Amino acid sequence: MSDFPKGAVALISGASRGIGDHVAAELLRQGWNVSLGMRTPVMPAWAEGEEDRVQLFAYEAGDVTAEARWVEAATVRFGRIDALVANAGIMIPKTVIEAEDEDIEAMMQVNLKAPRRLAKAAWETLAATGRGRVIILASLSGKRVKSAGAGSYSLSKFAAVALAHAIRQTGFDQGIRATAVCPGFVATDMAMALTDRPADLLTQPDDLARIIAMLIALPNSASVAEFAINCQLEEFF
Ligand SMILES: NC(=O)c1ccc[n+]([C@@H]2O[C@H](COP(=O)([O-])OP(=O)(O)OC[C@H]3O[C@@H](n4cnc5c(N)ncnc54)[C@H](OP(=O)(O)O)[C@@H]3O)[C@@H](O)[C@H]2O)c1
Repeated sequence: MSDFPKGAVALISGASRGIGDHVAAELLRQGWNVSLGMRTPVMPAWAEGEEDRVQLFAYEAGDVTAEARWVEAATVRFGRIDALVANAGIMIPKTVIEAEDEDIEAMMQVNLKAPRRLAKAAWETLAATGRGRVIILASLSGKRVKSAGAGSYSLSKFAAVALAHAIRQTGFDQGIRATAVCPGFVATDMAMALTDRPADLLTQPDDLARIIAMLIALPNSASVAEFAINCQLEEFF
């Protein structure tokens, strides 16, 4: 686990399934204590025998008080917070013409506002470590608008990329490093609802988890602002 101290703590939102579940399992495997933000908290099977290093927190990104309560609970349980993985996300596949304001607001709430509140709530404890880490699960949809149907989602994910840059700018002198992780299709429920491509041709969530663990482990002198991952050839990604 690089030079993070034994007992370093990561909070992972949307840890119930998909990418978040794999990231949490990988970090636990690499020696981290993990606090899992889940709408319906259930101890994962991969945590068997390691329950003392795993916290479950009932996390609903639509509740504006949730992030502060989660940070408080994790600090009480583990005494520190070294890394955030703001992973919970939703995709409403509507064009910017089909979407209602409520659709845009729902995606902004989960994909942008909640990650910002989480970073804000954890800021002092992240800074206290001298090497806090913030991973924002953005998307390649935060780098380009690939189709009309992804347009509304892209609004929130471009904003999520900007959030990662803004956190990096704000926290650099305190040793906080932030990365916008920008995958294309990853073989999870979200992507499988959007593409006919076979799951084994998509980026695998455990590969993404290894990438995210690596990004978190890098020293302060190796700041990665954005990390793009794709399962298919595009002009720039
Ligand atoms: N899969 C892809 O192709 C892909 C590509 C690029 C970026 N991403 C991004 O990667 C992240 C994870 O995606 P995924 O593919 O793992 O998606 P997923 O399989 O659909 O899982 C989404 C996760 O977010 C949680 N979540 C959704 N709404 C929430 C809310 N209001 N409050 C708290 N948690 C909430 C879900 O909890 P429940 O289990 O309770 O629903 C679940 O744990 C998202 O930010 C997504 O936009 C995904």
